[in-house]
Amino acid sequence: MRKISLALALSLGLVCPPLHAQKAKTKKAAPAAVQQKHTPTNPAQMKKFIDELMAKMTLEEKIGQLNLVSVGFTVTGPVVSENVDEKISKGLVGGVFNTFTPIAVRKLQEKALSQSRLKIPLIFGYDVIHGHRTIFPMPIGLAASWDLAAIERSARISADEASADGLNWVFSPMVDVARDPRWGRVSEGSGEDTWLTSQIAMAMVRGYQGTDLAAYNTVMACVKHFALYGAAEAGRDYNTTDMSDRRMLDEYLPPYKAALDAGAASVMSSFNDINGVPATGNKWLMTDLLRTKWGFDGFVVTDYTAINELIPHGMGKNEYEVAKVALDAGIDMDMVGEVFLNHLGQLVKDGKVTPAQIDVACRRILEGKYKLGLFEDPYRYANEQRAKETLLKKEYREAARDIARRTLVLLKNQNQALPLKKTASIALVGPLVKSQIDQLGNWNGAGDWKQAISVEQGIRNVAGPNVKITYAKGANIAADTLMLQRLNAHGGMLEIDPRTPQEMIREAVQVAQRAEVVVAVVGESQGMTGEASSRADITLPGHQLDLLKALKATGKPLVVVLMNGRPLALKWENDHADAILETWFAGTEGGNAIADVLFGNYNPSGKITATFPQAVGQVPIYYNHKATGRPYAGQLLDKYKSRYLDVPNEPLYPFGYGLSYTTFSYAAPTLSSKTLQAGGTVNVTVQVKNTGNLDGEEVVQLYVQDVVGSVTRPVKELKNFQKIFLKKGETKTVTFTLREEDLKFHDLNLNYVAEPGDFNVYVGTNSRDVQAASFTLVK
Ligand code: BGC
Repeated sequence: MRKISLALALSLGLVCPPLHAQKAKTKKAAPAAVQQKHTPTNPAQMKKFIDELMAKMTLEEKIGQLNLVSVGFTVTGPVVSENVDEKISKGLVGGVFNTFTPIAVRKLQEKALSQSRLKIPLIFGYDVIHGHRTIFPMPIGLAASWDLAAIERSARISADEASADGLNWVFSPMVDVARDPRWGRVSEGSGEDTWLTSQIAMAMVRGYQGTDLAAYNTVMACVKHFALYGAAEAGRDYNTTDMSDRRMLDEYLPPYKAALDAGAASVMSSFNDINGVPATGNKWLMTDLLRTKWGFDGFVVTDYTAINELIPHGMGKNEYEVAKVALDAGIDMDMVGEVFLNHLGQLVKDGKVTPAQIDVACRRILEGKYKLGLFEDPYRYANEQRAKETLLKKEYREAARDIARRTLVLLKNQNQALPLKKTASIALVGPLVKSQIDQLGNWNGAGDWKQAISVEQGIRNVAGPNVKITYAKGANIAADTLMLQRLNAHGGMLEIDPRTPQEMIREAVQVAQRAEVVVAVVGESQGMTGEASSRADITLPGHQLDLLKALKATGKPLVVVLMNGRPLALKWENDHADAILETWFAGTEGGNAIADVLFGNYNPSGKITATFPQAVGQVPIYYNHKATGRPYAGQLLDKYKSRYLDVPNEPLYPFGYGLSYTTFSYAAPTLSSKTLQAGGTVNVTVQVKNTGNLDGEEVVQLYVQDVVGSVTRPVKELKNFQKIFLKKGETKTVTFTLREEDLKFHDLNLNYVAEPGDFNVYVGTNSRDVQAASFTLVK
C-alpha cells in the first residue's frame, strides 16, 4: 500500500481528516445510530427505476458513471485523481475510493446530490482487506485458522465498521491462488489450495454482504483479482501468466466462481497478461466466461489504472485505442485511469463503440448502487453516531484477539520449550519485538498502528508480575539500505539502529546470557510483502539469521516468533531453534494473541495453507502437484528421477502442517463402502484421539487422489476438513461424506466430469502425514 505525504494530500485537496479531528458540523443533522428501515431490492422495480433514470441521462453522464476516482491518502498506483469536485458536480464520477469517515463521505455525497444534474449518488469503496479500523491478521494468517466461522466473523466486523465509516463497497475478498512465495501478495490471499480458498471466499462474501446488500451494516464485496494474478511468472508482481485451460479451470478459477456463487456483486479485473491477452482487455475472460458461462450480472471494475496499462502491455498505441479494447472486453468501471471518461465519447462519435455498450456498463453500475439502497437513502452509510459506537469497539478488539490466536501456527516445539512459564526470565530480542506498525500487516486500511499491540506489550499484558523481561534489538530488519529507503518511501516508518551488526548482536547475546529463555521476534517488516513487494530471496532479511545463530550459541532455549506475510525458507531455524511460532502479521490485537499462545493461555491450532520450502530454488512448490513419469521416492543413487541434486524435493513444512501443545493420534480411516455409485455417497470415518496432556483443537484433513484418468491428476487434493476440539484423553469420530461431485475435474475435452475408476482417500493431520483407504467410482 503506497501512501502519499500529508503535505501532498493537502496541496491536492485530498485530506479527509480522521473522525476525532473533525469539528465542523455538516449541513444535514447526522441520523441517530438506529437501524434504518429499508426496502429490499425488487428486480422489476429496479429495472423500471433504472430505465427511467437512464432515459434522462446524456451519453456523457452515462460515461461518468463508469469513472471511479481516488480521493484520500492511500494510492496504490502512480496516478492520483484530479479536479474531483468539479467532475462530481458535472456528473462525471460514478464512485470514489480511499475516502472514509461519515463526514468526508457525506461531504462528497452532498456535492453529487446537490450539484450534479441527475443527483445520482456516489458509491464509496475502499481496500478493507483484513479489517477496517479493527485489523485482523493478514488473509494468509486468517486462512491458517481453518476456521470458516472465525473468518466470516472477521469479514462481518469489517463490514460493520466500514459501513459505519461511510463505505459501502470493499475490494475484497482476494482469492488468487498462489504457489510462489516470492510473490508479495501471497499475504493477501488464502494460500495454494483451490478448494480451501473457495470455502474462504464464500465465508468472506457472506460476512461482508450478509443476506441483504441494502442493509445499513452490509457492504458490497468485490472479488479480485480476476483472474490468475497469483500465478505471476517468477513471483514478480504484475508479471505474465500463461497456463493451460485445464489448469485454469481446475486450479485457479474456482475460487472466483465460488465468491460469485456466494453472491459477490462486483469483480475487479487483474493487471496480468493471461495467455497473451491482459485480463483487463480479455473478452474471453470478462464476457465469454464471466457473463455467458457463469451468468454474473454485477459490475466489473478494473484494478488501478489497468486500462492505461494495456498500452505498455502492447494492446493499443494510445488511451483511445485501449479504451475500446477494455469496453469491448466487458469492463464496466475504470479505476483512476479516466481512459473511459476521456475517450469513450469520441469512440462513440467515431462509430468505434456503440452507445448500447455504454448503456450496458452504466446499467450494471447503477444496479449496484440500487442494490446497496443508495437511491433510497444516499446517506445510509454515513452515520456519525454509529461510527462512534462501532469503530474499534471493545467487542471487536476482543474478537480480533480471539481470531488472531487461531491463526498462529506452531512450526516446531522440542523439549517443551513452549509454552513459556509465567515465572521465567525472558530475553526479548529482535527488530520486531516492539513494532506496532508491523503487527497491522500491509493492507491495514484505516487501521491505526498506535492502537496495535506489539509482542512486547502483549507479553507484558499476559505474563503477570513474576516474569522478568529484558530486551535487545539485536539486528535491523534489513541491512540493504536501498531496500530500507524504498520501504520507508511508502510509509514503512522503519527506524534504523546506526550501530554495526556486530555491536547489536553482542548486546543481544549479553542480554540472552542473563535470561533463562530467549524469545527472538524476527521476520519481515509489513512492507516486504503485499503489492509490488516480491522478494527473490525468501530467507530472513538482513542480519537476523546471524543474530539467531549467536543466540543459539549461548545455549539458552531459543524460541523464534516469526512475523511475516509469506512462507519463508527457514532451514537453519528449523534445525536449530527449540520452538518456532509463525504469527504472520496478526493485527490490532496481535501482541496479546501471540502472548496468549506463548504462555499457553491458548493452545495453538493453526495450520499453514502455503507450503514452506527448504530453499527458494524449490518454488513453485505445492502439495497437489502431478506425479511425473519418474517420481522420486528416496532412491538416492538413481540418477534418472525427478529431483534436484542439491536440495531434497520435500518441503520444510507441508501444506496443512501445524503443531499443538498436545498430540493427536489417528486410527486408519474406514469407508462405508468400497464403491461409490453415481449419484450416491461414500462416508469416510476416522477416529482421532488427543494423546497429550492438554485440551486442544485439531484440523482433520481429507484428501482424494484419482488414480487413473483421461488426463493426469494431482497426487492428492484437499476435499474437506473438520476442526475439532478434544479434551485431553478424548477420542472423537469424524465422518466426511464424499459425493461424485467432489471427484469432478476437466477431462480431456474440458468437460467437467467424474470418471469411473479407483480413488485413494487420505486422512491426516497435514497433507504429508496421512493414512490411506480406497474406493471405486462406478457409473
Ligand atoms: C491493487 C488492488 C487494490 C487497488 C485499489 C491496486 O493496486 O492491486 O488490490 O484494490 O489497488 O487500491
